[in-house]
Amino acid sequence: MKDFNFDIPVDRCNTASLKWERYRDKDIIPLWVADMDFRSPTAVIDALGRRVEHGIFGYCVAPKSLNEVVVEMLGRRYGWQVDPEHLVWLPGLVCGLNVACRSVAAEHDDVMTMAPIYPPFLTAPVNSKQELVTVPLKPGKEKWEIDFVLLEQSITKKTRLLLFCSPQNPVGRVFNHEELVELVSICSKHDIIICSDEIHCDLILDADKKHIPTASISPEAAARTITLMAPSKTFNIPGLGCSFAVISNRNLKNKFLQAMQGIVPDVNIFGFTATEAAYRDGWDWLAGLLEYLRGNSLLVEQEIASMEGLAMHHVEATYLAWIDARKIDGKAPGRFFESFGVGLSEGSEFGLPGFVRLNFGCQRSLLQEALKRMKKAVTNKDAPV
Ligand SMILES: Cc1ncc(COP(=O)(O)O)c(C=O)c1O
Repeated sequence: MKDFNFDIPVDRCNTASLKWERYRDKDIIPLWVADMDFRSPTAVIDALGRRVEHGIFGYCVAPKSLNEVVVEMLGRRYGWQVDPEHLVWLPGLVCGLNVACRSVAAEHDDVMTMAPIYPPFLTAPVNSKQELVTVPLKPGKEKWEIDFVLLEQSITKKTRLLLFCSPQNPVGRVFNHEELVELVSICSKHDIIICSDEIHCDLILDADKKHIPTASISPEAAARTITLMAPSKTFNIPGLGCSFAVISNRNLKNKFLQAMQGIVPDVNIFGFTATEAAYRDGWDWLAGLLEYLRGNSLLVEQEIASMEGLAMHHVEATYLAWIDARKIDGKAPGRFFESFGVGLSEGSEFGLPGFVRLNFGCQRSLLQEALKRMKKAVTNKDAPV
């Protein structure tokens, strides 16, 4: 029996929700930060309940059974054989991006990424006093693409690391085998380490696409890749702070562990508990979620296409739509839509002003209302609600 109905609204007010607190007591629908307004799988909620009931919340280690579940899952879903010894548990992927910068590059080295991109990719190198090199993604006719020529031209003698996001937030691309092969080939040629953030890997919307872990494409790719993954986006548990790195290169793993020393806290017991339950028993829920998100995605694409001044590419993965609103406002269209009652993420934070990111991981009725407000905004620009 299905244990989910994604149409049922859940009141998140007064639950210390980052997403909902931003517009507390305001009539603005929050479609910004990437968490969803859906309850997690029953298996996760039940496992957490049992753990609370135990009543002792001491220091913890990743249980062997959890490592086994993760390794089994990576093999089954992605055909990727991972040694449990290569797992490093982390309290967050942003933390993983920052640790990757510190462990791979020295101060003043170059760290590359491709924009638009999830904002911490732009700040992690700067936090480590490294030079951020941003290569623009190309808006192709059908989809956003990697500009391999520009990527290679942007490499200098000081380039040590590429921060890569696959599937890509915010443009929603699922990178294919050819693209990954080319990326790895360029990085090999110039001896660049790849930090591949694959947090959205389970959220593939297009039935004809599949996620391919960058490290899985060849032994060469595995040797130069730090993979970052988590159950947090997939099962809507980002507040529990549990994620992991996969690093098969022993030298790289040691440097990564060293950079974490004394700074990165352990994952907490609820993060481990929820992760094991989700990866063991959350897959039917995920199938239902993906079906629902496909419906939301279609609705967003159809509605945006009908709105004057807005455009977007098809979303292949994630629950995020990246919308070109430059005809509305080339600098801060997010502010414009906020004044009409919809809270979106501003493109400038992702390195591309004039765009907005819309999170459609919410009940369809709320999404319909938000899209109605956006339509009203673009047709009646001078009259905020
Ligand atoms: C690409 C990407 N990486 C990392 C994160 C955040 O990860 P965490 O909450 O584990 O730090 C997000 C959240 O939206 C994301 O989209």
